[in-house]
Amino acid sequence: MLEPEQIDSFLFSAKAHAKVNLHLGVGNSRADGFHELVSVFQSLDVHDTVTLSESEGAAPRGTHVRAINVSGPYAAGVPADQSNLAWRAVDAVATRLAEKFGPLELSVVELELHKEIPAAGGMAGGSADAAAALRLADSCFSRAYDIRSLGEDELFSLAADLGSDVPFTLLGGTALGTGRGEQLTPMLARGRYTWALITSKEGLSTPSVFQKLDELRSQGKGSSPSLDTTRVSQALISGDPERLAGELKNDLQAAALSLRPDLRKVLDVGQEAGALAGIVSGSGPTCAFLCPDKATAAEVVFQVTMAVPGTKGLISSSPGSGAHLI
Ligand code: C5P
Repeated sequence: MLEPEQIDSFLFSAKAHAKVNLHLGVGNSRADGFHELVSVFQSLDVHDTVTLSESEGAAPRGTHVRAINVSGPYAAGVPADQSNLAWRAVDAVATRLAEKFGPLELSVVELELHKEIPAAGGMAGGSADAAAALRLADSCFSRAYDIRSLGEDELFSLAADLGSDVPFTLLGGTALGTGRGEQLTPMLARGRYTWALITSKEGLSTPSVFQKLDELRSQGKGSSPSLDTTRVSQALISGDPERLAGELKNDLQAAALSLRPDLRKVLDVGQEAGALAGIVSGSGPTCAFLCPDKATAAEVVFQVTMAVPGTKGLISSSPGSGAHLI
């Protein structure tokens, strides 16, 4: 007879938290096309919710996923097919389990992505969904092998294969990222920080922003690589938002502004509305404003969205956590 837990079909959700780069130092481009990074990541409270359920139907050939359904305020433009990183994360777990323990007949699953994180905005929403999908698929498929999990090392190695930001969204909290951003060391951080995040209607392509920075640097225009994180680390230890505001740094900002000059106005208006500091988040176009409190963050959202057509705002705090089952 089957145990009850073997009869129950799997249906779990996981939170997938966004990130902000408090410091993004970009070094030279490498032979593999990636750039050496020195990044200080911090997770935000804002999160997508990813649900994985076992499905009765059949999946397309070569995959365990039957379908992805996308919902929520930032669903527009999110791919609902095999190009979605979360879909690939599920199959990556199945493949790694088969490589380690031998092939088994595994369930067909469906994914539901409830999007609260702006898409293509430099906040790692797609990466976070993939990290959550790794945890969910690990829990679901490991049951067939009578184990609890592939283990953290395997999950982090799969995360790095999926994308440079996926390992951090799996880990969460505050961490230093080196290599292409996937080699992580947790950092000490005190305090909580309040952010106003301003999103744009149109996304920015990450490769084109990195390429623009190379171009600017070849013309002697881009800033030289900011590889020293001592001051931002000290600010994080102090827990003082004003001190942290003085240390926010993004080497990609000049490139993002060169491709999207309209973001300059977003930064100026947000600053005038009372933010302690504003930066382009990651490769943009989302701009992140560190604020002294929630009321100021609300004022920043109000002023910027009034002044710049096509922008939307949300308020979040940090640090948040890594992708985890709920
Ligand atoms: O790793 P991920 O797929 O997120 O990277 C997307 C693109 O961003 C890469 O193809 C590359 O053009 C650029 N990138 C980079 N250096 C990094 C991370 C990303 O040049 N460290």
